[in-house]
Amino acid sequence: MKILVTGAGGQLGRTLLAAGPPDVTMVGLDRSQLDIAEPGQVLACLQRERPDVVVNCAAYSAVDLAESEVAKARKANAAGPENLAIVARDSGARLIHLSTDYVFDGRATVPYPPGALQNPLSAYGASKCEGEQRIHDVLAGNSVVLRSSWLYSEYSGNFVSTMLRLFREREDVSVVNDQTGSPTWARSVADAIFAFVAKPDIAGTYHWSDAGQASWYDFACAIHEEALDLGLLDKKVDIRAIATRDYQAAAKRPAYSVLDCSSTSEALGLKQTPWRQNLRAMLEVVVR
Ligand SMILES: NC(=O)c1ccc[n+]([C@@H]2O[C@H](COP(=O)([O-])OP(=O)(O)OC[C@H]3O[C@@H](n4cnc5c(N)ncnc54)[C@H](OP(=O)(O)O)[C@@H]3O)[C@@H](O)[C@H]2O)c1
Repeated sequence: MKILVTGAGGQLGRTLLAAGPPDVTMVGLDRSQLDIAEPGQVLACLQRERPDVVVNCAAYSAVDLAESEVAKARKANAAGPENLAIVARDSGARLIHLSTDYVFDGRATVPYPPGALQNPLSAYGASKCEGEQRIHDVLAGNSVVLRSSWLYSEYSGNFVSTMLRLFREREDVSVVNDQTGSPTWARSVADAIFAFVAKPDIAGTYHWSDAGQASWYDFACAIHEEALDLGLLDKKVDIRAIATRDYQAAAKRPAYSVLDCSSTSEALGLKQTPWRQNLRAMLEVVVR
């Protein structure tokens, strides 16, 4: 079994490559090695590597910047996945593609099931929606679209690493308290992806996140508490809860984007881990 991971320089790509089971050959390509927005590169790469499964972790993920770089976001998040789907279809490879809770508008009050109506509020969310649709149009029978939410990892460039930096630099930090979601360790998503790989007959749209819900403020307080406890931080910081309207961000984000992961649990026989437990586990990795 050979798995090709695109976007291998990002946090999920790196997590996947570090967690590959021993019986699987993992090939990771970062953007400099494979730009998924370039059809010629995608074709040459899949012809060369001949993977059984392509896991697409490549994405334009700068949510606010996407508002002013719509074409760039669509190239990576819509045209890119379509390029992969076309070549995967023609070469018999399966495609596992990552998507996001930001495809939803956040007006729900109970967790979103995979079939819930999409209505993205941002250019990033719209580009991810389009990517999902293009994959569905080309390769519905041999692809999995896996949506997750609020990803963090031991690698930098995520909410946890940003909070740890701000806690060290500042005396107080303001964090939005009226957006609710499920913080998710990238390792949980990697586990789900490998479980999908082991079940080649599954296709369709699925959700996977850690269990429970939090606001960004709750999440920041938990990071602060665990970091103090683990000695990652040597001083307390004042964390202030603010409203979204008081935080200047270019992109609108859903007020509520908890994902209903029950169909994935059933299909894969996996149980979600409480988000706080995984936050602790991830920070323990940072300490080691
Ligand atoms: N982060 C989250 O909170 C979150 C939540 C839900 C879902 N997701 C989804 O999960 C997936 C993985 O996200 P992540 O957090 O690992 O993102 P990430 O850390 O930003 O990684 C994405 C990687 O893709 C690369 N990339 C961008 N455009 C590319 C292209 N055209 N061809 C090849 N590579 C390209 C980026 O390279 P450069 O850095 O050089 O641009 C980056 O290394 C994405 O599909 C994302 O939409 C993320």
